[in-house]
Amino acid sequence: MRRPIVAGNWKMHGSRSETAALIEELLSGAPAKPAAACVICPPFVYLQEAARLLRDSIFSLGAQDVCAEAHGAFTGEISAAMLKDVGCEYVIVGHSERRLLYRDGDQLIARKFAAAHARGLVPILCVGEQLADREAGRTNEVITRQLDAVLELCGAGALGHGVIAYEPVWAIGTGRNATPDQAQEVHAFIRARVGERDAKIAAATRILYGGSVKAGNAAELFEMPDVDGGLIGGASLKGDEFLTILAAAR
Ligand code: PGA
Repeated sequence: MRRPIVAGNWKMHGSRSETAALIEELLSGAPAKPAAACVICPPFVYLQEAARLLRDSIFSLGAQDVCAEAHGAFTGEISAAMLKDVGCEYVIVGHSERRLLYRDGDQLIARKFAAAHARGLVPILCVGEQLADREAGRTNEVITRQLDAVLELCGAGALGHGVIAYEPVWAIGTGRNATPDQAQEVHAFIRARVGERDAKIAAATRILYGGSVKAGNAAELFEMPDVDGGLIGGASLKGDEFLTILAAAR
């Protein structure tokens, strides 16, 4: 049995007071024993305060990115050890905004995954095709390339300690989610690809769907057999909507 995960990626939104207010809203509305694990990923500078507010709650803390290096002269970067130190359990790596806007390539993302895993963080590896890839029938090819970079550097064992998030780029922030069937098809492909290395790990690995998940479509997406929860952007910034999405994962 794979326990689903619902993770909120807050991206570069909010202020100190808005972060605290959203966390208060989540804490006051959260069920005592949700079926899904729940992770929130605020911006770096609010992680420490979020960790304090979330202590002893159902929510785990995640970061949105991590440096591939352990320490040293890397101005502006944040290491996996630092994230661990302030209370993070998870970290997103390879989000499409990192891949496209900051040129994070497959090899760098694999090294970020390795750095997070080495420090005991659970990496949430994002993969996903752009619209042109899908239209050209290259979805599986793109996903394979993104997955294999991590499998080759880290191995299936390490991948099994992480979480995979399938996020079609054309669905992110567009209001146009993948249909449940489209998501299921790619999720099954990802699981099969991991299964070529290790069937047991493939069966146990959580694969989240991300891209315009909202209160109104979460249940039908999460119902698919290979969809193990979601990575939520915009809708994670609204406390009541995020809690409705959390309740849809069972
Ligand atoms: P969205 O973003 O839910 O706003 O589409 C998802 C993500 O980028 O992780």
